[in-house]
Amino acid sequence: MTIVSDYDAATRYRASRELDLRARKVIPGGGHLSGRPLVDTETTPLYFQRAQGCRIWDVDGNEYIDYLLAFGAYLLGYAHPEVEHAAREQAQNGRLLSLNHPRHVEFIEALLPRFPGAEMGVFFRTGSEATTAALRIARRATGRRRVVRCGYHGWHDWCVPREDFVPLGLDEQVLEFSANDPSSLEPIFARHPQEIAAVILAPEMVLPHRPTVFHEVARITRSHGAAFIMDEVKTGVRIDPGSVSARIGLVPDLLTVSKALGSGFMVAAVLGRRAIMEAGNGMHYSGTLHGDTAAMAAALKTLQVVEEQGVRSHVFKLGEILIAGLNTIAEEEGVPARAYGEPLAPMPFLRFEHADAEIQKNMITAFYREVLAQGILLHPRHMWFLSAAHTFQDVARTLEAARLAMRVAREALRHA
Ligand SMILES: Cc1ncc(COP(=O)(O)O)c(C=O)c1O
Repeated sequence: MTIVSDYDAATRYRASRELDLRARKVIPGGGHLSGRPLVDTETTPLYFQRAQGCRIWDVDGNEYIDYLLAFGAYLLGYAHPEVEHAAREQAQNGRLLSLNHPRHVEFIEALLPRFPGAEMGVFFRTGSEATTAALRIARRATGRRRVVRCGYHGWHDWCVPREDFVPLGLDEQVLEFSANDPSSLEPIFARHPQEIAAVILAPEMVLPHRPTVFHEVARITRSHGAAFIMDEVKTGVRIDPGSVSARIGLVPDLLTVSKALGSGFMVAAVLGRRAIMEAGNGMHYSGTLHGDTAAMAAALKTLQVVEEQGVRSHVFKLGEILIAGLNTIAEEEGVPARAYGEPLAPMPFLRFEHADAEIQKNMITAFYREVLAQGILLHPRHMWFLSAAHTFQDVARTLEAARLAMRVAREALRHA
């Protein structure tokens, strides 16, 4: 491998760039936030055509080992044959039927024994729906209105920045605490005695990963009569032995899961203790497409393959190798960067650290342009994901590319 940073980017990503220009005329901003350029539209790919396993091809025909996997929607890799087959077979009898289908019951029955404390469940299509429903269930169960959060739980009004024109007064209802400092919950409960229904927390918000923090957040929450919700939309199914909650011996009151569960099919669930979930009885949180049996068939097959093939320990091992390799390379090449699990090894990330913001930005830009030119899709602002489809050779190749990219980043450091 040689450094390719002097490639002709305009040629390499021409079709991507053209699509971006078209999109800007018909889609506000050219796309959603999750479709933002990796670095910029001139020097990094923006549109992708197809994917298989852990490989993805952009619209210009460039191939990549993909560590984004549609923001973690895949744990088995793209287009997994058994999962696709299960979904297709189910769809042949109609994906969505009037009223109920046996799959709905089977789906929830399959999930319950896999998540700690889960005695009842409800199904949805996206993580945002699941977290929103979990809070609503908790509000009804406790008879209280306010909730406490920190970090990202979806795009709905209650968890986007205030300046995004959320309805007036909503920020009074949705309070924020600091995940890494459980004691920050106490003054919030003190200000609103008997008013807070739930605290919701996603495992990747606690960095570095410390099990005691989750136990403490849960303890404080319950001591004030509120429900503790673990948002495992990213970590559920993916993290050995099936959730971060199970890994750290924590039984949340409610738990949300999506992403890895569906292998790209739209499926999500809220699971939890019977006493709280019963509050969902008679509550309106249904959507026309919630009962998609093909997505549930895909999820059931995903669970089976993940468990039979030891996928969770595979992604852990690969993540550890990638993290250790990146840290060795950064040290050997003299680049101020640090790799770590966000929160754990199957979800790695690399942080460049420099006191000068401009230098830091230049290093990030140089590194990601180069790895992408080397055929490795790593995201500069979002954690990465390993899958069953990644091999040890893929990770070795990724580390080779990362070494070259670190050298380019180091140059950027010099020329700053
Ligand atoms: C922790 C967490 N909760 C909720 C969501 C929202 O899920 P979705 O994008 O499927 O609506 C996400 C999405 O990234 C997430 O990471």
